Amino acid sequence: MSQSVNKHASGEMTIQFQLNNESVEKEVQPTKLLVDVLREDCGKTGTKRSCGIGRCGACAVHINGELSASCLTMAYQVEGKSVTTIENLVQGEELHPVQQAMLTHGGFQCGYCTPGMVMAIDALLATHTNPTEEQIKEALSGNLCRCTGYGGIIRSIQHLLEGSEGH
Ligand code: FES
Ligand code: FES
Repeated sequence: MSQSVNKHASGEMTIQFQLNNESVEKEVQPTKLLVDVLREDCGKTGTKRSCGIGRCGACAVHINGELSASCLTMAYQVEGKSVTTIENLVQGEELHPVQQAMLTHGGFQCGYCTPGMVMAIDALLATHTNPTEEQIKEALSGNLCRCTGYGGIIRSIQHLLEGSEGH
């Protein structure tokens, strides 16, 4: 646990971190998960809690730029770190290119799995500007869809990489 986390007699602790480029300070129980702090205390409900055990990717966020499962992260572990949620990917009035591509090419799925899929693809594109289909599939390997499948998502990303979104 970070030395700088301030623990109180009540059992709660004060944590500070950057959330979507803004500094936030929250009082949290030591056992509280990051996903629950984001949704319940920070109003970032785009991050979903589905399996709760690191299997589905619905709770994906970026912590210091790394794709991370917020259901496997204790809130105190982000003390002093930078957390990015799906809400920060919208660019002003414009959807993120990955979101736009998914809407245009049939990759937009339900509200549970889609945010995590977008976070996973955004993390992939941060390190691979021209990923192969295999790399796209690998990047989505931690994201579970129980219904419609992955074909539309992969097709959307391939259209995006071909420049058909105009970005
Ligand atoms: S809710 Fe975190 S991986 Fe499923
Ligand atoms: S879990 Fe969201 S569309 Fe399948």
